[in-house]
Amino acid sequence: MKIPNRIRLAHLPTPIEEISRLDLPSDIRLFLKRDDFTGIEVSGNKVRKLEFLLDDAIRQGCDTLITCGGLQSNHARATAAVAAKLGLKCILVLRTASQEQPEGNLLLDHLFGADIRLVTPEDFSQNLDNIMQQLADEVDSSGGKAYLIPLGASNPLGTFGYFHAMEEILQQEKELDMTFDTIVCTVGSAGTYAGLVFANQLLQAEKHIVGINISDSADHFRNVTMSLWEGFCQILGIDQELTEPLHILDGFVGRGYALNTPEEMKFIRDIAGRTGIVFDPVYTGKAMLGLVTTLKQHHPLFSRSNNILFIHTGGLYGLFPKTDEFSDLI
Ligand SMILES: Cc1ncc(COP(=O)(O)O)c(C=O)c1O
Repeated sequence: MKIPNRIRLAHLPTPIEEISRLDLPSDIRLFLKRDDFTGIEVSGNKVRKLEFLLDDAIRQGCDTLITCGGLQSNHARATAAVAAKLGLKCILVLRTASQEQPEGNLLLDHLFGADIRLVTPEDFSQNLDNIMQQLADEVDSSGGKAYLIPLGASNPLGTFGYFHAMEEILQQEKELDMTFDTIVCTVGSAGTYAGLVFANQLLQAEKHIVGINISDSADHFRNVTMSLWEGFCQILGIDQELTEPLHILDGFVGRGYALNTPEEMKFIRDIAGRTGIVFDPVYTGKAMLGLVTTLKQHHPLFSRSNNILFIHTGGLYGLFPKTDEFSDLI
């Protein structure tokens, strides 16, 4: 089995630390893998995927990265940072209903010199592939070479980011002399979850992997994971069934992608005040709320979990454009 090459962009291995004082059932210890520490500019999970995609892009001689996401996309910001670092150009196709202040991730996109193209939500959902392809054609016809990166960098090559993260976790278990029976992550485009699940099967890690979706539905992401598996096997040149169970905990999407309830904002404030750790409103805050709520309810999904590792996938910059939503809480 030959894992694709990667270039080094993230600060790895990221630390693992226990998070306590959450009033969880007494037989449960909860740990965080601090993938929000992968780097300040590239902070979060996307840079692990980009390590593999950028190796591919550079091998192909590409000079312009094109990717997409919401206006406050962490993935877009990490891609813009990586492009600036490697001396590549970057075009970001960002979904927005209105012209908004450059703040949070969007401010950083500007600082990294990205060429930002704002697209309406309608165009984004109906025409994204065409828009991206047209931009790539424009780059190519003006003498450059474009590299297209899909939403969240969640394509089969991107899943190797969290395949590699699982190898890192297994090594850290040896160093820490402990075992995590359960690994939990946020599911936004499923690349992180899929990488962990695939590694669990191929490396026979025997972990209980649980995703918590913050948009769409569990069924949708099970389908995405199955189709990523096909491409993942093709890259590795293997022919295997995906036999891992696909546990995705639904019910914590709340008002919808990137929208919050007062309860979610209060949870983020409370957990920050109790633990000194900040979760973001769009991804990890919702998933952590889901995890803590479910553990307190003694949900059967965690009936055999004692040492749980939650991957903190970052997202801090998405907090700042939501200052208004904290106004009654601070
Ligand atoms: C901070 C953060 N956490 C989690 C996720 C979800 O990861 P994935 O898209 O691999 O499901 C994302 C991106 O979508 C993210 O930006």
